[in-house]
Amino acid sequence: MPEMSDLKGVILCGGLGKRLEPLTRITNKHLLPVYNKPMVYYPLETLIGSGIKDIMIVTGGNNAGDFLRLIGNGSEFGLHHINYTYQRGEGGIAEALRLTEHFVDGSRVVVILGDNIIGGSIKKYVERFRGQDNGARVLVKKVSDPERFGVAEIKDGRILSIEEKPRKPKSNFVITGIYMYDAKVFEIIKTLKPSSRGELEITDVNNAYLRDGRLSYDILEGWWTDCGLPETIYRASTLARKKGLR
Ligand code: DAU
Repeated sequence: MPEMSDLKGVILCGGLGKRLEPLTRITNKHLLPVYNKPMVYYPLETLIGSGIKDIMIVTGGNNAGDFLRLIGNGSEFGLHHINYTYQRGEGGIAEALRLTEHFVDGSRVVVILGDNIIGGSIKKYVERFRGQDNGARVLVKKVSDPERFGVAEIKDGRILSIEEKPRKPKSNFVITGIYMYDAKVFEIIKTLKPSSRGELEITDVNNAYLRDGRLSYDILEGWWTDCGLPETIYRASTLARKKGLR
């Protein structure tokens, strides 16, 4: 079985963050403050806290150089080195992940969206992923506004379907932006066609694993939020502050 350090970590910070205008007019969304730290610090600490040290950040937009100025070689986080790559435009989460194929280089990968912030740790889920032979693992969470996310229909402990931003969600369980994949993920991405919003969708990747019977899941413990909207950045800041005060 591969060592924990054999797992690669990827943080996706591409996209143009248009739903946060004017906040994102002069900087990248993932550099905006969430309580007392830039947003990208949170997913970075989540990955490092799970034991992953080999990390690539996918950036994009006009301010990619600021990631280097902020994070440098990662020594502040106890890393020896950190890798960066660049996504042009916003062709979707799966397109951003595709850019890391050379970095993942046949290993398995834990992916976290740069705007996903959690209250706890993902270590035990990452360990379960290490224990599974192959396939993918996602983390799901019950929310009150599932129509904003990829929604999982779950029955008898199994995911039956995942729908991206459905008008009539089949459940309140959504797929969080924390994904674990074997190296086949890159073959799957190559088969994808852009969705109606012009993006290569991560939900299509997850559904491909589901069709093959190779998608496992855990229910994420503790709070979780994205930061895609002004009110969710505000919520993330409030939750991060409470966590910091504990
Ligand atoms: O937060 C979880 C949700 O994230 C999932 O439930 C959905 O299934 C998934 O599609 C995604 O939904 P969003 O519509 O909220 O994703 P958004 O376009 O806001 O992008 C989220 C992050 O992904 C963004 O902060 C950076 C990264 N990203 C996104 C795009 C579109 C990229 O790196 N490149 C991109 O082209």
